Amino acid sequence: MGGQVAAVREPTGAIDTNRMDLAAVGTAAKLARVFAKHTAKKWQLSTDTCEKAEFVISELCGNAIKATGTIEAVGPRDEPVQTITLRLALLKTPSLVVEVEDADLDTPKLQDGSEELAENGRGLFLVEALSKRWGFYHTTDGRKVVWAEIDAIRANSSGEER
Ligand SMILES: Nc1ncnc2c1ncn2[C@@H]1O[C@H](COP(=O)(O)OP(=O)(O)O)[C@@H](O)[C@H]1O
Ligand SMILES: [Mg+2]
Repeated sequence: MGGQVAAVREPTGAIDTNRMDLAAVGTAAKLARVFAKHTAKKWQLSTDTCEKAEFVISELCGNAIKATGTIEAVGPRDEPVQTITLRLALLKTPSLVVEVEDADLDTPKLQDGSEELAENGRGLFLVEALSKRWGFYHTTDGRKVVWAEIDAIRANSSGEER
């Protein structure tokens, strides 16, 4: 799957949504994971769902930062640091949709997998393995969103701890 599958641009049937803007610097993925953890707790999602989301968010944020940002804490002189946006949506299905928006128009490309020992090019395979479907779309204001839809399991009523 992947590529230009139908975008979850305006998730229909969203029970709740949450979003966070982040400077596209090396610490963004960590902050995004913490934000997702808090959101997953609020939405009473299972530990397994939360962990999957954290993996997916790490990969998507890592890619967005690689495409548009800097690993340094500050941007090049006189250039503002780019921002990326993390959006989470809980759908009735139930699914958790993770979206990461960046300012680069290049599209994500699933590598062909021929170099099994390669250190690079495995992130989107992980996203594909952990999600029901994933894809990307361009926004009207010249940005791009990469998204993934994860099966959302609610924590059981006996109160699964996270
Ligand atoms: N947000 C993005 N913006 C632009 N290109 C991307 C983005 N995400 C992924 N890509 C492209 O898809 C390729 C594969 O991504 P990935 O599987 O995560 O491997 P890696 O990040 O190790 O290169 C990247 O090398 C890049 O060319
Ligand atoms: Mg990657």
